[in-house]
Amino acid sequence: MSDKINAEVIAVFPNKVKIKVDKLEDFKIAGESLKVGSYLKVYGNDNAVLMAIIENFSIDVSEKDGVATRTHLIEASPLGIIKNGKFTRGGDDLTIPPKEVQPATEEEIKKIYIESVEEKEQFSFCTLSSNPNIRIPVNGNKFFNKHIAIVGSTGSGKSHTLSTIIQTAVNGKDDNFNLNNSHIIIFDIHSEYKSAFPDANFIDVKNLILPYWMLNSEELEEFFIDTEANDHNQRYIFKESIIENRIKHFKGNDEEKSKIHYDYPTFFDIEEILKYAKEKNSEVIGTGEEYSTGAKKGQEKTTQGSLYGKLTNYVNRLENKINDKRLGFLLGEASKKITFGETIKQLMGYEDENNSNVTIIDLSGVPFEVLSITVSLISRIIFEYGYIYKRMRNIIKPDEKINNDIPVLLVYEEAHKYVPNSDLVKYRSSKKSIERIAKEGRKYGVTLLLASQRPSEISETIFSQCNNFIAMRLTNPIDQGYVKKLLPDTLGSLIEKMPSLKQGEALLIGESVILPSIVQIDRCKNEPSSNDIPYWELWKQEWKNMDIGKIREEWYK
Ligand SMILES: Nc1ncnc2c1ncn2[C@@H]1O[C@H](COP(=O)(O)OP(=O)(O)O)[C@@H](O)[C@H]1O
Ligand SMILES: [Mg+2]
Repeated sequence: MSDKINAEVIAVFPNKVKIKVDKLEDFKIAGESLKVGSYLKVYGNDNAVLMAIIENFSIDVSEKDGVATRTHLIEASPLGIIKNGKFTRGGDDLTIPPKEVQPATEEEIKKIYIESVEEKEQFSFCTLSSNPNIRIPVNGNKFFNKHIAIVGSTGSGKSHTLSTIIQTAVNGKDDNFNLNNSHIIIFDIHSEYKSAFPDANFIDVKNLILPYWMLNSEELEEFFIDTEANDHNQRYIFKESIIENRIKHFKGNDEEKSKIHYDYPTFFDIEEILKYAKEKNSEVIGTGEEYSTGAKKGQEKTTQGSLYGKLTNYVNRLENKINDKRLGFLLGEASKKITFGETIKQLMGYEDENNSNVTIIDLSGVPFEVLSITVSLISRIIFEYGYIYKRMRNIIKPDEKINNDIPVLLVYEEAHKYVPNSDLVKYRSSKKSIERIAKEGRKYGVTLLLASQRPSEISETIFSQCNNFIAMRLTNPIDQGYVKKLLPDTLGSLIEKMPSLKQGEALLIGESVILPSIVQIDRCKNEPSSNDIPYWELWKQEWKNMDIGKIREEWYK
């Protein structure tokens, strides 16, 4: 480079650095061409280096002594400052005036990323989008310890990203080491993930067994009684009969029995609750007087019980639920027999012979009206597990530092369907359970990974608790606006890229990564199954016959 200053910083703003370059050829680095998205280093006076990413080039032509001269102007957006090997976001820390500006070499960029995370904490699932030679590790502890959000329009690559992340997480040190201590539960609403995780503990409505008696009082009422009718009688009878029935079936001593309440997660028999309701609904009570004449002479006179005929709606509702075959996974015989321990084992993939890191809960067959309580119940059981497990560990070893040595990641695909930004009753249960995990789960080793194509429809409480964002192509302006609002405002132009990202490209931001970066997510090994039906190809084929008999059979199963 010549002695003359070739490239000079001419302005520094918090969100922009302007650089004047006389000879662009000299500003380049051998073998690496500068382009929009390339990294620059701007040196301050006190060993601080501002990393900035090129946003645009322009050429300024001016005339001097009758000769036209060209200068190049580069606008770059600051990502943050590296000082003594540590990165801080934003550009306003740079001492002014800056001394020098240079393009950053591939090696330098590599170094920044690799050195940002200690080797044993590196978790790596992507490369820098502008240079596939540069791997971007995140800090695996910080990544999984804080809630994660993956947002992007349909087709942007969320499901693949989710699969890549989880496949990488369960692969452990190398591919031969296949049962590590990672624990992941995926709520799979579209039956997508079985193909991505062929070894997973796979649960769907056919083999899922959930104990209805572990539902809490709110969920029970939402499910079994018509809460909108606000019928005091229904609620009273329901509550009293459940408490009494829990006590009746409880095997512990009197002291333990006295602790039983409405929400206590111990068995009650739903058929006995129905029987009791029926009895109350048709109850007749002796008055103490006798008939003195007529055919009934000598028999006691009767009168209708106080709830006679008043519980008909409630009885019908209960009866319909109990007889609804689609709800067998929650109310069937197996749900009565399953124990607390078996429930946890099933959900966490602990099987005596065949443990699994990943459990897939395929919700595609769960009727819509019970989706919320189903998700709520499972989420709550896992949260309670974390809570109790921490308590237990603290009792055994009071100075225990790690709260949970079997931490769990709960993955919600299409999260806006369980935790929407709405107060509708039908979402209340799952929203409440998941919000609680968002607020408190970290302490107990339960974290969330939420994926959604409609981030603006997700509860803000949940979103604001996420510390790691993978923002993929997002085209809807309302969603873009919502995501921008939640992200740090020092991102500058990176965030403007959201609508134009390619498939599998993402803006990776959060505590786990040194610089907010546009990355290309690695391809996953086994792909999730796509929901895209190739209409045009199928329509071009010959007319296909339909086995209506078989369809009917399945329908009536
Ligand atoms: N990391 C990636 N690199 C390249 N292509 C990808 C990547 N991730 C996804 N794709 C492609 O993008 C398409 C949509 O991905 P998908 O994960 O189903 O999106 P979404 O879940 O957001 O709807 C898929 O056909 C897939 O092949
Ligand atoms: Mg998807």
